[in-house]
Amino acid sequence: MIDVEKIKKDFPILERKVNGKRLVYLDNAATTQKPRQVIDAVVDYYSNYNANVHRGLHTLAEEATIAYDEVRKKVAKFINAKPEEIIFTKNSTEALNLIMYAYGMSNVSAGEKLVTTIMDHHSSFVPLQILAKRKNAKFEIMDVDKEGEIPEKEYEKLENAKIASVVHASNVTGTINDIASMSKIVHEGDGVFIADGSQSVPHMKIDVKKLDIDFLAFTGHKMLAPMGVGVLYGKKELLEKMQPFLYGGDMILEVHEKESKWAEIPAKFEAGTPNVEGVIGLGAAIDYLEKLGMDNVRKHDIAITRYCMDELGKIREVRILGPENPEKRTALVGFEMKGVHPHDIAQVLDSEGIAIRAGHHCAQPLHERAGVIATARASFYIYNSKEDVDALCNALEKAQKLFA
Ligand code: ALA
Repeated sequence: MIDVEKIKKDFPILERKVNGKRLVYLDNAATTQKPRQVIDAVVDYYSNYNANVHRGLHTLAEEATIAYDEVRKKVAKFINAKPEEIIFTKNSTEALNLIMYAYGMSNVSAGEKLVTTIMDHHSSFVPLQILAKRKNAKFEIMDVDKEGEIPEKEYEKLENAKIASVVHASNVTGTINDIASMSKIVHEGDGVFIADGSQSVPHMKIDVKKLDIDFLAFTGHKMLAPMGVGVLYGKKELLEKMQPFLYGGDMILEVHEKESKWAEIPAKFEAGTPNVEGVIGLGAAIDYLEKLGMDNVRKHDIAITRYCMDELGKIREVRILGPENPEKRTALVGFEMKGVHPHDIAQVLDSEGIAIRAGHHCAQPLHERAGVIATARASFYIYNSKEDVDALCNALEKAQKLFA
């Protein structure tokens, strides 16, 4: 197990007070806080070797380029990919849009089937929906059961899909989908399988080879890194066949008046000056997580989620969304409290120094399906302790009395 008290000391922000109270940060599914090691890595880059990458011939440019490319190797190792299969983007959303444009627009034909799930985040759901409209393709949605899981019967929709885009772990119910089984079905029909790993990669060991997924999108800021850096993993043979998404500097081999040629992967998909500081920070974040061990991160997540579900379950009129078994979820608990709007819950909690998220969490189809407009969500990471959950539950009881 990880040592939460020791970890907390690495996060300067956790020392601050909010509304006169100790900050209890439970909005990690939106973004995590950053440890000193990540902040220092970014400061070190700007203080000592700030330069553009892949362009200059001077010492600083060379140092920045080496550091940038080293992180690519680190990311590749983290998910068991090859370095050239790692494309830096600005976030998961950009990574998913990149696939829909660069792969989808040239490979999907009218009448073909594109599949997603009702629990997918807008960043996967909407680009696929738009692709289907533009190509006159079929758009099918896998449904969920009462526990917020996709019943196996729904997997039939994946048969002969041209593209399936599935969220690995829901940001509302926490449900972890069996993407290995899903990708197998899609591959049997020669389709392409995309996983949105935004809520899973930060929390568990992911092996893209074992899962046999074609594309994986995730973002740095939900795993201790700065905002503005995301990752698209793509199988080499697919990336090589795809046309670029953005055109410009650094993705070019030759440019002439009449025609241009593109660079090899990964440069082909990284047009323009990249977010070097973000990438450097992501490298430091991965070092931090690797030192803890992703299996230990996962064990901690399950323990704190279990404790939260047990304690929330004791509060009258609270309904927890998603699977009952914490081992089937990522580290978050979405809930409703009868008679209190989630926005009011969030406001009362904020007055107690507790940060949660309330709303539709960019997963409106799932909320519509459940017949609710908004939900509240507490989400955890490596620095959260049982005391944080206790603070949440005490404040929720306060909110309940206030609005009763
Ligand atoms: N997708 C992020 C969340 O669930 C922002 O909060």
